[in-house]
Amino acid sequence: MDVKPLEGIRACVFDAYGTLFDYASAAARCGDVLGDKLEPLNNLWRRKQLEYTWLRALQQRHVGFWEVTGDALDFTLETLAINDPGLRQRLMELYLKLDAFVEVPAMLQAVKKAGLKTAILSNGSPAMLDAAVENAGIAHLLDAVLSVEEIGTYKPHRHVYQFAVDRLGIAAPMISFQSSNAWDAYAASAFGMRVVWCNRYGQRPERLPGKPDREITSLADLPALVGAASPA
Ligand code: LAC
Repeated sequence: MDVKPLEGIRACVFDAYGTLFDYASAAARCGDVLGDKLEPLNNLWRRKQLEYTWLRALQQRHVGFWEVTGDALDFTLETLAINDPGLRQRLMELYLKLDAFVEVPAMLQAVKKAGLKTAILSNGSPAMLDAAVENAGIAHLLDAVLSVEEIGTYKPHRHVYQFAVDRLGIAAPMISFQSSNAWDAYAASAFGMRVVWCNRYGQRPERLPGKPDREITSLADLPALVGAASPA
């Protein structure tokens, strides 16, 4: 693995779901009713959620991520024949209070301390992102929380990555973009950002345009790669 720091980075931009926030933590809190359907639900809910973003983007029939997430959950509950009344609402409410991965606050602190800007760039709607950021207590560690809602389409449309460049006023090669989603990491790289792929989920390399500059499995390893001291 290449551990040489990236040079000339002025901002770290993060994907939200799966990268900063653990989307599986919503269903984990419903383990009492889900039992052995917990893992299948997490996997299918996430896969369907992403597929709906890509399909809606292709069809140019955008709706916000909250609706997409609910549609994907409905599909999943029906597919897995889960009929618990009230579970849908419980899971959706929990999606607003996802756990941040444990290393996130100290990592953001280290990056900021080094004088770099920090931002989220996510498919999440503004209300969803605000709730997650507030719940995790990391609002003061972020310079910007950017939602694709302002663009009206989803990743990996190049306009989404361009939005971060425009909003931060920092050129793409001076931005280090972090995502745990391989397809998102490759797309940001193809767009022209530097990319640190946080491969938490052990995904395979994509056969898509782009190539992440570095690969890590926890964001705790990020500060050293962008010229910031490691978190205490
Ligand atoms: C996001 C999804 C792709 O936060 O994880 O944009």
